[in-house]
Amino acid sequence: MFSTSLLSFVLLLDSVVAAPSTTDSIEATATVPFASTESNTILWLPDADPSEVKPIRGGLGSSVIGPDNVPLDIENADLFAPPTTDHGSVKNSKWPFSFSHNRLQTGGWAREQNLNVLPIATEMAGVNMRLEPGAIRELHWHVTAEWAYVLKGKTQISAVDAEGRNYLDTVGPGDLWYFPPGIPHALQATDDDPDGSEFLLVFDDGTFSEDSTFLLTDWLAHVPYEVIERNFQATSPEAFAHIPEEELYIFPGGYVPSSSDTAPESPQGQVPLPFSFQLSKLQETKLAGGSVKIVDSSIFNISKTIAVAEVTVEPGAIRELHWHPTQAEWGFFLEGDARVTIFASTGNARTFNYQPGDISYVPAAMGHYVENIGNTTLKFLEIFKTDRFQDISLNQWLALTPPQLVKAHLNLDDDTISKLSKTKPVVQGPA
Ligand SMILES: *[C@@H]1O[C@H](CO)[C@@H](O)[C@H](O)[C@H]1NC(C)=O
Ligand SMILES: *[C@@H]1O[C@H](CO)[C@@H](O)[C@H](O)[C@H]1NC(C)=O
Repeated sequence: MFSTSLLSFVLLLDSVVAAPSTTDSIEATATVPFASTESNTILWLPDADPSEVKPIRGGLGSSVIGPDNVPLDIENADLFAPPTTDHGSVKNSKWPFSFSHNRLQTGGWAREQNLNVLPIATEMAGVNMRLEPGAIRELHWHVTAEWAYVLKGKTQISAVDAEGRNYLDTVGPGDLWYFPPGIPHALQATDDDPDGSEFLLVFDDGTFSEDSTFLLTDWLAHVPYEVIERNFQATSPEAFAHIPEEELYIFPGGYVPSSSDTAPESPQGQVPLPFSFQLSKLQETKLAGGSVKIVDSSIFNISKTIAVAEVTVEPGAIRELHWHPTQAEWGFFLEGDARVTIFASTGNARTFNYQPGDISYVPAAMGHYVENIGNTTLKFLEIFKTDRFQDISLNQWLALTPPQLVKAHLNLDDDTISKLSKTKPVVQGPA
């Protein structure tokens, strides 16, 4: 008697709460077949034996019998043998700095990526620069802001703002600088590292070119000598007689600056908001499968147009399915091997693979994930043209949406719904 009434109570509950929703949701999508459950993993890793590398997935494709650039096929497994979930077209989203023309100078080099070489990247451009100890990236300015992440060694930065307030600092590995648009500045490697320094520069305009900045020497070489003398109130005709005939760009300074150097005393004082930030000292947020550090103008106050997330993803883990509501993402890969699929709406999706030194670009609002496909920690930078970092987590969105509504779309059971995460996972550990 008792057990019968309990059973009918359970059945009643079931019919009120669960049964109708399941029935409704299946009916709602009955005209559309279910998506494939093929795992669609990457078919080989960057250390693959070339004989295993063939554009064949399941019953599709065939071997290459003509000329072929095999090392690039190995590095780009998901272009050569794409997952069957890829479809339609997405503009190329990978630019290895190795493909950039390198500008070799005495004491260093610089190579750039901009809209000319990566047409998808409309909002930001990047430069990779190397300076030997004492080498100088000459005094210059440009109409875009300049954001930097130091890759190795230390760089002394100096600048003066429009009020005549100055700034000088030595910026080390994993740390940042930012110069607002038009602010004159210079960079010089110290000898804290015997090799000098190397850094990544990001500009908040996809058309930026490192070769068309305003340089001190280039300007003065194009001003009548008599005007230079009058401008600086020269007391001797020889005073400005040895300025260079053309730009120096990157050149040996003839001395090596010290980490303890300070800026010349300015009667106007120092800039009120520092132009550098110690990202390396910031406490990381630990996550199930990795970590994240976010620096935007809420803590690096001057950095009004560039924000960064420095992300690590452990082997087998994934930077979750997400998008950025209004900002494009300019990415740079520091360590490890990554796989990213960009969803561009209207059925368009394409998967790319990235190695250290590669740039990625995801236009605003396009859904994506970043999977660690290697055996070592994956570390990369997500860079945005914005004053505040923002992302939308697919998992959190679904967890905070009425369950019936989610079920009606995806036919999930209650157990699966209950495991959705109401807080952002950001990085998910191995399943
Ligand atoms: C940066 O902004 C925050 C929040 O407005 C403030 O607490 C902090 O003092 C500012 N830092 C500097 C160096 O002005
Ligand atoms: C990772 O380790 C496995 C097993 O040791 C090996 O088969 C695989 O090739 C390695 N992958 C990479 C990218 O090193």
